Amino acid sequence: MISAFPVYPIRRNKAMRFGHFDDARREYVIDTPRTPLPWINYLGSEDFFSLVSNTGGGYSFYRDARLRRLTRYRYNNSPLDMDGHRIYINDGGTIWNPGWQPAKTELDRYTCRHGLGYTILQGEKNGIAAAQELFVPRGDACEIDRLTLENKTAAPRTLDVFSYVEFCLWDAMDDSSNFQRNFSTGEVEVVESAIYHKTEYRERRDHYAVFWANAPVTSFDTSRDAFCGVYGGPVAPEAVKAGHCSNSIAHGWAPVGAHHFHLTLAPGEKKSIIFGLGYIENPVREKFSAPGIINKARAEAMMARYATDAQVDAARRALADYWQELLSGWQLTSGEEKLDRMVSLWNQYQCMVTFNMSRSASYYESGIGRGMGFRDSCQDLLGFVHMIPSRARERILDIAATQFEDGSAYHQYQPLTKKGNSDVGSGFNDDPLWLIACTAAYLRETGDWSILDEPVAFDNDVTRAQPLMEHLRRSFRYTHTHLGPHGLPLIGRADWNDCLNLNCFSEHPGESFQITGPSEGPVAESVFIAGMFVKYGREYAELCDHLHLTEEAASARTAIDAVEQATLTAGWDGAWFRRAYDAFGAPVGSRECDEGQIFIEPQGICVMAGIGRETGQAEAALKSVEERLDTPYGVVLLQPAYTTYRLNLGEISSYPPGYKENAGIFCHNNPWISCAETVLGHGDRAFAVYKKTCPAYIEDISEIHRTEPYVYSQMVAGRDAPTFGEAKNSWLTGTAAWTFVNVSQYILGIQPTLDGLRVDPCIPHTLAGYTVTRRYRGAVYHIRVENPHAVQKGVQSVTVNGAPIAGTLLPLAKAGESVEVSVILG
Ligand code: BGC
Repeated sequence: MISAFPVYPIRRNKAMRFGHFDDARREYVIDTPRTPLPWINYLGSEDFFSLVSNTGGGYSFYRDARLRRLTRYRYNNSPLDMDGHRIYINDGGTIWNPGWQPAKTELDRYTCRHGLGYTILQGEKNGIAAAQELFVPRGDACEIDRLTLENKTAAPRTLDVFSYVEFCLWDAMDDSSNFQRNFSTGEVEVVESAIYHKTEYRERRDHYAVFWANAPVTSFDTSRDAFCGVYGGPVAPEAVKAGHCSNSIAHGWAPVGAHHFHLTLAPGEKKSIIFGLGYIENPVREKFSAPGIINKARAEAMMARYATDAQVDAARRALADYWQELLSGWQLTSGEEKLDRMVSLWNQYQCMVTFNMSRSASYYESGIGRGMGFRDSCQDLLGFVHMIPSRARERILDIAATQFEDGSAYHQYQPLTKKGNSDVGSGFNDDPLWLIACTAAYLRETGDWSILDEPVAFDNDVTRAQPLMEHLRRSFRYTHTHLGPHGLPLIGRADWNDCLNLNCFSEHPGESFQITGPSEGPVAESVFIAGMFVKYGREYAELCDHLHLTEEAASARTAIDAVEQATLTAGWDGAWFRRAYDAFGAPVGSRECDEGQIFIEPQGICVMAGIGRETGQAEAALKSVEERLDTPYGVVLLQPAYTTYRLNLGEISSYPPGYKENAGIFCHNNPWISCAETVLGHGDRAFAVYKKTCPAYIEDISEIHRTEPYVYSQMVAGRDAPTFGEAKNSWLTGTAAWTFVNVSQYILGIQPTLDGLRVDPCIPHTLAGYTVTRRYRGAVYHIRVENPHAVQKGVQSVTVNGAPIAGTLLPLAKAGESVEVSVILG
């Protein structure tokens, strides 16, 4: 008889969770280590970052996950998630970890609390409780791991406790490929309980890492061969099994850091050990110190800052205060628990992470593949700008400096050098317009018009610097001067949909088709970029109005009107907007196509831009989305899915049906549909679309969904996929920013404008009301919205500090003021 093997994901008919939200502590609490996939958190807010999973896996880096990687991580390893921030306990031969991995010894108790910039792993075994508390303190380039052990029994207990990290030799790409060199470069130095990792210092003499403990060690190891055993590994390292390390000094091969403590706990006794992993950068002048001799002064000062529990407690409090202050700028109370926790906390938290990481480092982005994306970072900023406008300002200037003089831009740049990535190059024709989108959002949030005067380099060449406004002008002009045969913008290598590669091959006279690789072309056009041009072009024209550039504003509007007309005619398919025209002038996303007849992106962006609102085309387009693309788990990207590879479409058709851009539920553009529904006043539908992909609302199907129920994933398998409903690529996705923009501005209707805050909600008719606390340009607005007539849209009256105002634009308050706003819908 053939046995039935379980197919993953295992589906059961009951709701399945693996934890719960603890709203009071602002944590997600995981109560089994066997989550369907590692469920991670991010530590760090500015320079030093760590990823940590619910079983203690993960890695750390300073600024750039590729060029300054402190610890190693193997992505496609089996077993999964072996490398991390490890603590081992050997209790009389029983070896276990507070976070269960890597030993996977069954624990008597386990919890993982992922909080704002910290994670606490708690494990208990045979009466010993261990808590591993990990965080990156504000303002310091290190991760602190405090281990607290408690003997809950009536007898004294003797334990051998080990820490363990595996160092990466800094450039993570080189580290994972150039073994003939790297097996000989590793260098370490041990001073008491401090293990210095100083590979590269001989050559560069400017940075090193230190892994320390705040108490004298019993023994240590710095060679992986010695700690794990040449044929051993992190599951059961030889040193842990033996109960002691061998004080090894690594010479090349794989340098690691491992501390060992032999300790005794009296009945009821609690003890803590503080570990730290720090990055030290010495000033350039110290480059001329003697080779191999590191200046330890900064490391010693760092270690002294976290030597006691009181210091660590204070650092934890400072981190909590930081987050309290950040989040206090946008708080919602609606009575709808799931909505409140997403808006007030988790969605904003993810926006901070995507702002910091762009698409560089997650459990699906290796840190060596992509740096900062031009379009990605511009969009991430839309959901982040209200949190720390000054950092948004700096980011806009960094991004703009990677633009070329003709307005096009490097598609990606490296966070450490801030230089464009020439391997990837440019040619993604939506990129320039995203710079207008994020700058306009910054201006609406802050009113800081001085940013437009900032001189910004082109292609990082400061001799060619021009004011930021000139960069935006070139962005606009780039699209305007790259129109195709139908008067729609040329797509170039791709637009938002990286995988729609319409110029990737060409017809050669006398031959058949030939693949030419990513390129541009004079025929293939994008209706999506047309929608962007109308939306962000109008925002650009408004900036011109404000700067009294009257003629420029008028000519911009003439150009925009022409593209809008082309969209309504050549871009229209009868019941929805077409997606594009390919390199042969054939429509993509049309009923004329055998597959891929309708795409989500142009329906969302065109309606958001207001295209077809008066003509009924916008209504028809969204109806078509509902009829053809909607599913219980979200709106799929296209239908019907491509079943074969298409040379004229490129990567999109390389995915099996239902995955990624080939008819997956690409979460990023679901909010576009929700936003578009609010443009037409459909609050019920907008909210229904919002809920389908919203993590807190789908927590109950965690077993099907598989990724973390507190953050968005990039993609959920569509209805054509055998694993319909299964998510992938959690955390680093533009979904975070766009869902926050959607829920905060389009649905709840708290809209920053160039002239101040406007309140114009479009909500489900069942929502009776809500209050929002919104910090805006230094003032705090307490906004109470009531919906006594159960409407979806329409403002009946607004009062500000008790006095009625006309319209929905709130008068600008002075910084420091507190404003009471009451809005009645009807
Ligand atoms: C990229 C985005 C792109 C999206 C759709 C993501 O992986 O980061 O830049 O817009 O895929 O293709």
